[in-house]
Amino acid sequence: MRGNNMPRHTSPFLFALLASAATLLSVGDALVVDGLQVGFYGKTCPAAEGVISDIVNNEIAMDRGISPGLIRLFFHDCFITGCDASILLDESPAGDVPEKESSANGFTLVGLRTIDIAKSTVEGMCPGKVSCADILAFAARDAAVAAGLPRYEVAAGRRDGMRSNMDDLPGNFPVPGHHVPRLTELFSQRGLSQEDLVLLSGAHSIGGAHCFMFSNRIYNFSQDADVDPTLDPEYAKWLRQMCPPRQPGDDPEQAPKVKFDAQTGERLDVAYYSELLARRGLLTSDNALIEDPQTRAMVENFARNEPLWQQKFSQAMQKVGMLDVLIGEGKGQVRKQCRLVNGQEKEEKQQQPQEEQEEQQPPELEEEEQQQPHQPQLPWFLQRQRPPVLLPWLRPHPRPRRPFRKHPVADLVNGFFRGFH
Ligand code: HEM
Repeated sequence: MRGNNMPRHTSPFLFALLASAATLLSVGDALVVDGLQVGFYGKTCPAAEGVISDIVNNEIAMDRGISPGLIRLFFHDCFITGCDASILLDESPAGDVPEKESSANGFTLVGLRTIDIAKSTVEGMCPGKVSCADILAFAARDAAVAAGLPRYEVAAGRRDGMRSNMDDLPGNFPVPGHHVPRLTELFSQRGLSQEDLVLLSGAHSIGGAHCFMFSNRIYNFSQDADVDPTLDPEYAKWLRQMCPPRQPGDDPEQAPKVKFDAQTGERLDVAYYSELLARRGLLTSDNALIEDPQTRAMVENFARNEPLWQQKFSQAMQKVGMLDVLIGEGKGQVRKQCRLVNGQEKEEKQQQPQEEQEEQQPPELEEEEQQQPHQPQLPWFLQRQRPPVLLPWLRPHPRPRRPFRKHPVADLVNGFFRGFH
């Protein structure tokens, strides 16, 4: 934190944050960059944080599933190459297959459109000022608050990265089949403690998982048991009803999704921990938290004390938001669109074959129109990017999603990566 630029209204809670940040610096010096600031956009775009909050709340009002989606997006972004909005990139200028295409993300990401709407709105208000990485951090907080968490401060000043590569995930990212030792190791590599692991896993009190993420627990579990014996048998029976066995040729995108917490699945609360203790943890990695004696003690503690968990969960989210952040003019950029590095669209256009470029030209003008006095105008493809005048939530998607370029070894890597067993 910048000591001299501290916001005037420094709350006691912020002091708690500063204390936790200081601890974090001593844990993983290389991973946490000092210099984020609460109220960072106070001069450059004062309305940004409020407008983002309005958009997020509006989106959640229309679809409750956006709330877990945004929290997960934020975690997935920060855990890999830091909070640089690399998870949002559709394409990488280096030609790498982006993080989005990894099997840990893929079609299971939710909330991308909300970030696009927030970005295009804020960009219309204060062009080039508010980074996608900060929008994601604000949006994740707003999503958590909408799901019942008390509001916490989000320090800002992150800049956006310029690369995204799905190969960064295998070996660095937790997968549903992991147990506590491996989870702890991965978290500690990112400067996060075992307690952070237990605290943040509490995000699984909202949202859900597609059946194929845990189907190994309910079908053909081992040579001796069809169903994972650590599951409550009634719960396992219900899961089998929700998730019929997969048939060859089933489209994973159509796979059913099951709520982590069937009782209070739209509220970010400690019911997740009680469910774990009742042997109703959905993923192997959730259930693992009650098998290890150290993490089990934390689970029992949080299950009993919601205010404690809420406070510590907020602090853990703030810690996540500081991972490997890019700060200062010399680092990264403030993207114009969260899905593309600045200038990428123009470069791509230049590289397109001649016929494709011709196909995209506007139709020939009638002779009469051609005779109109010349009006100085932006090239047509830049005009299309101007902020539209529609209300943000009615706007069409700012840029149609393109299919990912196929990586020659993508399937192979993904196969290894899933790592259920
Ligand atoms: C500890 C290791 C973790 C593993 C192995 C893990 C794995 C998963 C998996 C497999 C899903 C289901 C995705 C789907 O099928 O759509 C999921 C969902 C989710 N995860 Fe995690 N996760 C972990 C930690 C976290 C953390 C630390 C957070 C946030 C701080 C988080 C937030 C979420 C949320 C909110 C969802 C629900 C998403 C939705 O319904 O759209 N997870 N996670």
